[in-house]
Amino acid sequence: MTELTTQKEKKPVIFSGMQPSGALTLGSFTGALKNWVELQDEYDCFYCIVDLHAITTRQDPADLRRRCLEQIAQYIACGLDPAKNTLFLQSHVAAHSELAWILNCYTMFGELSRMTQFKDKSARNVDNINAGLFTYPTLMAADILLYQADLVPVGEDQRQHVELCRDIALRFNGTHGDVFTVPSAFIPKTTEGARVMSLIDPTRKMSKSEPTGGCVYLLDKPEIILKSFKRAVTDSDGEIRYDVKEKPGVSNLMSIYSVTTGRTFEQIESEFAGQGYGAFKEAVGESVVETFRPIREKAEALMQDKTYLTQVYTDAANHAARVADRTLKKVQKKMGFVAK
Ligand code: TYM
Repeated sequence: MTELTTQKEKKPVIFSGMQPSGALTLGSFTGALKNWVELQDEYDCFYCIVDLHAITTRQDPADLRRRCLEQIAQYIACGLDPAKNTLFLQSHVAAHSELAWILNCYTMFGELSRMTQFKDKSARNVDNINAGLFTYPTLMAADILLYQADLVPVGEDQRQHVELCRDIALRFNGTHGDVFTVPSAFIPKTTEGARVMSLIDPTRKMSKSEPTGGCVYLLDKPEIILKSFKRAVTDSDGEIRYDVKEKPGVSNLMSIYSVTTGRTFEQIESEFAGQGYGAFKEAVGESVVETFRPIREKAEALMQDKTYLTQVYTDAANHAARVADRTLKKVQKKMGFVAK
């Protein structure tokens, strides 16, 4: 074991993941990716591309393969250093699927039925309400628990899944002794981008499946981003003021501007006092363009270097598998499975 690995293992552990079911969005960036970068020096971080989760909805195989590579490139382009973080693909570490099955047997039907993401996704995919969609949270629990993660940095929409993961870990530990670290969700304040809303319906989360214009993607060209912000839905009173209930569109734009510029709401309000929404929307669009520009350029360059990307995810999968297998072995022993 190298000195670097020994030092890494002393730090508290972080696990998080993103689905390659679509391109990464402004929401994935503010709710998670931006924070991942800030945490990389103090924690031993495992950042995963959760391709097994992505197949709970139908994927075109060629698109999925391309998006997985693009996602690794975007992780690195956002500032995640592959030498400090384990950046890997979920399907490369078999322990995820194996532990997920065991955890299915420690998760109640009622618990899974109450998950809002399951309810939302099954309402949107009435033709394909598969068992994987239902047991999605147990796979997510396996992801987290395999690495004995202390913290799980996610956006607000994933809080319920992390809570369920804690309940599963506590239930398992209650029966078998302290096998799993019980993790905590690490969620930015909602005003700091924990919940970025659609630009065309600000009462709905910005998600990869948004209709055109509602969602902004990390790799979007500047003109597309500016156009989406120009058309963002606001309200009719013309005042730039933070009030999620009365002014969801303007408040969403203020949160985004606050994340991309580091300005407080008071500063934003005085900056745009007396100006119309037009100037404000343009400024928000510009700030997103400038935040994403270096990321897009770096990601595009990295995509040209497939050898490097392959090296990154292969090394990472080897390291992740070693850590994950240690936990899986412990669990299998507790289950009473005969050792190989
Ligand atoms: P996913 O791929 O939907 O989203 C990735 C991350 O981005 C956050 N996020 C948002 N934050 C703020 N506003 C938004 N509009 C927005 N949209 C997305 C999400 O909260 C998430 O943190 N189930 C997870 C992936 C996963 C996972 C895990 C996460 C699988 N296993 C283990 C943590 C730990 C998901 O679907 O994320």
